Parts: sequence; C-alpha cells; structure tokens
Amino acid sequence: MFRIMTRAALGLGALVFGAGMALAAPDPMQALRGKPAGAVALDPMSALRAHAQGGEDMAGNPEFDGLPDGPGAEETYYQCVACHSTEIIKQQRITDLRWDELWTWMVEEQGMVEPDEETRQVILSYLKENFSSER
Ligand code: HEC
Repeated sequence: MFRIMTRAALGLGALVFGAGMALAAPDPMQALRGKPAGAVALDPMSALRAHAQGGEDMAGNPEFDGLPDGPGAEETYYQCVACHSTEIIKQQRITDLRWDELWTWMVEEQGMVEPDEETRQVILSYLKENFSSER
C-alpha cells in the first residue's frame, strides 16, 4: 500500500514538472507567428531605409559624400575631398567666375594637384552647374 502511494506521488510529480518545463520554455518565434514572411513592422530600420530611398535626390549621392549626381560628380569628389569635406562645396552659391578663381587659389595657395585639362573642365562644369549663384 505504501509503495503504491509513493508511485502515484512520483507520477504526479513528474506530470507537474513536465507541465512546468513546457511553460518555462517560451517560444522565441511566437511573436512572428501569423505574420507574413519578411514582415517589416518588426524591423526597426525599415522606416529609415524607406526614408533614405525616398530622399536620395535631395541628399545627393551617398557614395560621393552627398554631392548631387551628375556628370563630374565622381571626379569632383576625388579631386576635392583630399583636403576637406564636400560640405564646404555644397554650401557655396557663387558666380562661375568665382569658381574659376577658387580653382586657381586652390592650386596656387593650397597646393592642389591639378588634373588633366579634360578633368579640370568636367569638374568646373559640375561645380558651376550645381553650386552657382547664376542658375
Ligand atoms: C590641396 C588641398 C585642397 C584641395 C585638393 C582642395 N581644396 Fe578647397 N580648400 C583648401 C583649403 C586649405 C581651404 C581653406 C580651408 C578652410 O577654410 O577650411 C579650402 C577652401 C575651399 C572653399 C571655401 C572657400 C571660401 O571662400 O571660403 C571651397 C568652396 C573649396 N575649397 C572648394 C574646393 C573644390 C571644389 C575642390 C576640388 C576641385 C577643392 N576645394 C580642393 C584646400 C584644398
């Protein structure tokens, strides 16, 4: 009789223990259940990415530190960021003539290495097209 009681108690114990284990192990996928694959609501960066994609034109090309896209953007970037950021360029609204003067000043006073004539023209056209007070 005593033995039977013990077994019953052990059996009950195992049952309670088993149920406890099941409760103690939360399902890490529970939050995802019922959501479509790739649900963006769970991705805190999705809103930022959507914003970046939408605002690309305004913000310029991130590859060239925010310089606006266009012929000469890449040449300008590599020619000019050797010494300072593109910010100093982007904030300018100066005349075409002033750009020519600044170029000369950069070469003669700051030691900027001049590229070949074609590249020089491409960069100056780009600067005048995008950062001029004349258009
Ligand atoms: C060899 C170094 C060097 C290179 C390369 C260089 N700059 Fe500069 N630039 C300077 C220095 C130095 C200053 C003045 C420092 C400052 O104000 O921070 C300056 C200032 C400027 C300014 C501000 C001028 C003002 O009136 O205050 C502009 C605009 C500018 N650079 C444009 C350019 C552009 C565009 C290029 C590429 C074609 C370029 N820089 C390449 C050294 C350089």
